[in-house]
Amino acid sequence: MKDGKEVFDLKDRVVLVTGGSGGLGRGFCEILAAFGADIALTADKNVKGAQETAEMVKRLDRKAVAIQADVSSPEDVERMIQKTLDEFGRIDILVNNAAINSGPSKIADMRIEDWDKVLKVNLRGAFLCTRAVLPHMLSQGSGNIINIASVKGLRTFREIGEEMPIPNYSVSKAGMIMLTKETAVQYAREGIRANCIAPGWHRGTQLSDRWRAGSWDKEKYERYEGGILRATAMGRRGDPDELKGLIVFLASDASSYITGQVLTSDGGICV
Ligand SMILES: NC(=O)c1ccc[n+]([C@@H]2O[C@H](COP(=O)([O-])OP(=O)(O)OC[C@H]3O[C@@H](n4cnc5c(N)ncnc54)[C@H](O)[C@@H]3O)[C@@H](O)[C@H]2O)c1
Repeated sequence: MKDGKEVFDLKDRVVLVTGGSGGLGRGFCEILAAFGADIALTADKNVKGAQETAEMVKRLDRKAVAIQADVSSPEDVERMIQKTLDEFGRIDILVNNAAINSGPSKIADMRIEDWDKVLKVNLRGAFLCTRAVLPHMLSQGSGNIINIASVKGLRTFREIGEEMPIPNYSVSKAGMIMLTKETAVQYAREGIRANCIAPGWHRGTQLSDRWRAGSWDKEKYERYEGGILRATAMGRRGDPDELKGLIVFLASDASSYITGQVLTSDGGICV
């Protein structure tokens, strides 16, 4: 039995993080490497950002490789898995983090292409990566899958009202939660765990700040921000650093008897 800090040790574990070119994904790569993991990370377009993350990991004396791959493409996903295996020989942990969003829209007004685009990256992407990594985890006799969902996959937000209906994103995240539970139950006896992190609103990432950068005027933005803060018991947004302990917990043996769970880190939104 490991004790003390050893339960969080990730030394020589190989982690594949999708969408590691910035935002929360970069923070996940950094903290997992700080606890000893070697990291393969992907980005679709922002290759420069992915390479910067890889350099950060290497500065922590861990191995890293940045791979350009679109998680919604089966061919890219197969190539990403093969590249990771070529570099490291195994994959212990998959973090399905890559995601996109489209502009706010109520269901009746939603463009079909926006519905498909978001579901394709967020849900199909997580499915494709999970599907491709499972045979390797099964042959290893161990594996750990961490899906990054959202509180938007757990509840609706009347507090934010007209400013933020993103049903395609919400449904994709609800789907990821069920994908997590299916994976957990189907493979629990083969030594594979699957859990989900559902973050609340975290500041400073591309996804969370897109609305500010868009065409919204100050008043509309303040209504939106006010809605988020009203919904959040702590009355503030999260800092991406506040998710780092949770990912280490789920990636490590500290959570070895936990599978199929959704852990919210949301300042009390879902209470
Ligand atoms: N930031 C928040 O407040 C928040 C809240 C809840 C959930 N989340 C979730 O956290 C995760 C990270 O979000 P973020 O805020 O860091 O966003 P971000 O936009 O900063 O990062 C998203 C990453 O996904 C990558 N990506 C996008 N499409 C891809 C594709 N087709 N193939 C491969 N990679 C692709 C991007 O290159 C980027 O690295 C997402 O799953 C998001 O839904 C974020």
